[in-house]
Amino acid sequence: MENVLVTGGAGFIGSNFIQYLFEENPSVQIINLDALTYAGNHNNLEEISKNQRYHFVHGNICDEALVENIFSNFYIDTVVHFAAETHVDRSINNPMLFIQTNTIGTTTLLNAALKFWLPKLQKSIKQFRFHHISTDEVYGSLEPDQKAFTENSPYFPNSPYAASKAASDHLVRAYYQTYHLPVTISNCSNNYGPYQFPEKLIPLTIENAIHGKPLPIYGDGKQIRDWLYVRDHCNAIVEIIEKGEAGESFNIGGNNQPTNLEIVTTICEILGRISPSSANTPYSNLIRFVSDRPGHDRRYAMDITKIKSRLGWEPKEKFQNGLEKTVKWYLDHPDWINSIVSKEEYQKWIKINYEKRIEEKK
Ligand code: NAD
Ligand code: TYD
Repeated sequence: MENVLVTGGAGFIGSNFIQYLFEENPSVQIINLDALTYAGNHNNLEEISKNQRYHFVHGNICDEALVENIFSNFYIDTVVHFAAETHVDRSINNPMLFIQTNTIGTTTLLNAALKFWLPKLQKSIKQFRFHHISTDEVYGSLEPDQKAFTENSPYFPNSPYAASKAASDHLVRAYYQTYHLPVTISNCSNNYGPYQFPEKLIPLTIENAIHGKPLPIYGDGKQIRDWLYVRDHCNAIVEIIEKGEAGESFNIGGNNQPTNLEIVTTICEILGRISPSSANTPYSNLIRFVSDRPGHDRRYAMDITKIKSRLGWEPKEKFQNGLEKTVKWYLDHPDWINSIVSKEEYQKWIKINYEKRIEEKK
């Protein structure tokens, strides 16, 4: 891993990954290709942007000429592909954008990797790696008594987001089978930690609670996700790129399965302890049950036996501790969050997503 193209490196996981990779491997050169959509924020990488080994390219993964230029100018040997539209609720409002970025964008990157690597692949397959970041949502929803997803679970995506990610996974796999492009795929569960955009459950709850705004819970709040601390995820990705075989896929999870309601209640409890506010405490008074997300998956859980036994990876962070660190990070970075929530685009989205839900519940 010498010249690494990270796509979507100004987003939540991508910016954590770039920070992690520079800490672990200071000699690596990183090229970050990011379109800076509403979810991208280059301030996440303020310190790193001064590093000579870091290059930022503002552009779209669907732009074939731009992507090919990056491959040829920077002699890319490794791709770590995060760039995507990622919010399920937004995918319900605008599925086509998800197909464009997640499916066509991924194929554009695969084609460029093939074009630049194929002539050299016979000699040095180990020199190259296209690592694709995917999600547990491609497997669909589990009943309470069903076993956790393994790498062999059938694909059963239920939202336009999950379907667009499933399509991209299939294409990545097909480029391995058909052209022997050295790919790996990881399907991870819900991440949490610093720099997550405050449209997702955990940062939205922290942000709203601090400002005494309602804490929206979809449906009955008993849905279950498997929560993975973002730094554990970054570590797993590096392990897969370094030790995984071309063509392999790995599930990554945090071994934590609280309900959404438990998460929101825990955040309220942490805030009540470390940031009590006479106007808003107990913060749990702010909880509001709102109408459910259409097609809402009930439960995800990841079986991480393969990555544990093959690569020796397992999550280090315990959920309560990771959540506490995350709450503190948001409290310590009011400027970061204000720069997002003060934008018109953000306020418009919150209005679209929540006004109807609250109205429907009345
Ligand atoms: P994010 O929404 O925070 O960031 C996405 C980044 O991609 C942004 O910087 C955005 O500007 C960029 N981007 C979007 N469209 C682009 C395009 N067409 N060209 C170039 N850049 C573009 O996302 P995230 O939460 O960091 O997720 C990263 C990856 O991890 C995604 O592929 C997502 O599907 C996957 N994933 C995320 C989670 C999670 O809990 N966050 C869980 C499982 C899988
Ligand atoms: P989210 O953070 O959007 O991630 P994903 O949909 O990819 O799992 O949502 C996590 C869970 O929290 C999901 O079951 C939907 C639920 N949720 C709420 O109950 N209220 C909210 O305001 C949001 C954003 C999500």
